[in-house]
Amino acid sequence: MKSTILKILRESDDVISGEQLSRKLSVSRVTVWKHIQALQALGYGIQSTPKGYRLKHSPEALFAWEFPGREDRIHYLTETTSTMDVAREMARKGIPAFTVVVAEQQKKGRGRLRRVWHSNRGGLYFTVILRPQLPPSLGYQVNFAASLCLAGVLRECYGIAADVKWPNDILVAEKKLVGMLAEMETDSDMITFINIGIGINVNNDPSNTEPTATSMKKILGRKIARRDLLEAFLSRFEKTLCESAFDTVLSGWKAHTITIGRNVRVETVNEIIEGRAVDVDEFGSLIVETADGNRKRVIYGDCFHE
Ligand code: BTN
Repeated sequence: MKSTILKILRESDDVISGEQLSRKLSVSRVTVWKHIQALQALGYGIQSTPKGYRLKHSPEALFAWEFPGREDRIHYLTETTSTMDVAREMARKGIPAFTVVVAEQQKKGRGRLRRVWHSNRGGLYFTVILRPQLPPSLGYQVNFAASLCLAGVLRECYGIAADVKWPNDILVAEKKLVGMLAEMETDSDMITFINIGIGINVNNDPSNTEPTATSMKKILGRKIARRDLLEAFLSRFEKTLCESAFDTVLSGWKAHTITIGRNVRVETVNEIIEGRAVDVDEFGSLIVETADGNRKRVIYGDCFHE
């Protein structure tokens, strides 16, 4: 109901009367009025005059009804520990693939290798639940698809020169704009679910806590509507996962990575590898040529460009 009211108000340049709305929605004028009041209480600037209603502005919130066609799969929270925690519980209960948990703020946002991910207001913090029909060893494929799709949206929809850094960060002029984290559960030899958590510095200022980070607002000099960014990413990501083979994804990813060809230091759980990044293989592993000429294959780690 709310999404239909908003759609009608957004499509009209003129005031829409309560009578028109009640006819279009097949409900009483009192019911229309109650929904209008509820929307106003949520921050929608709906002007109410004797002639009817007009939408002046919408809040920056990411309510499910702002995503027509996927509203059943958007779970919007004003605050949580981490969208990864909520998504994991939902995934264990069997919620369908492409369900998204998105939060305004996370009190315990987490990054790779047990780092903290500071999640102040203005950023975009979400986790997408996926159920690919893949063995666990191929789970990395969805991470590459996610970073490729998001970098594509940043470049094509916002004109941001977004590069991908192995394994899944997105950098702009060497500064971190996006971080990604994947958590997977398996059942014998297949993935039950893989949750991709994405943190994007949008309208927040990450530089207080993370000097080597940047934000879309800083890059573009204006505030960004996070709803449009999330919708653009989700539709591209779904399409890519449904339609593209992994070799296409990987070649697209390689075309936009700034890791290959760089001197790197890769921190893994049990060692530090230094050398020149020469390739990413078909398993998503980084191939590092060390000073002694040996090639090391790194499956997972944190990569620093030297
Ligand atoms: C990293 O760069 O280390 C990964 C950062 C991932 C952050 C996102 S924000 C949404 C989701 N919830 C979390 O707690 N972490 C991920």
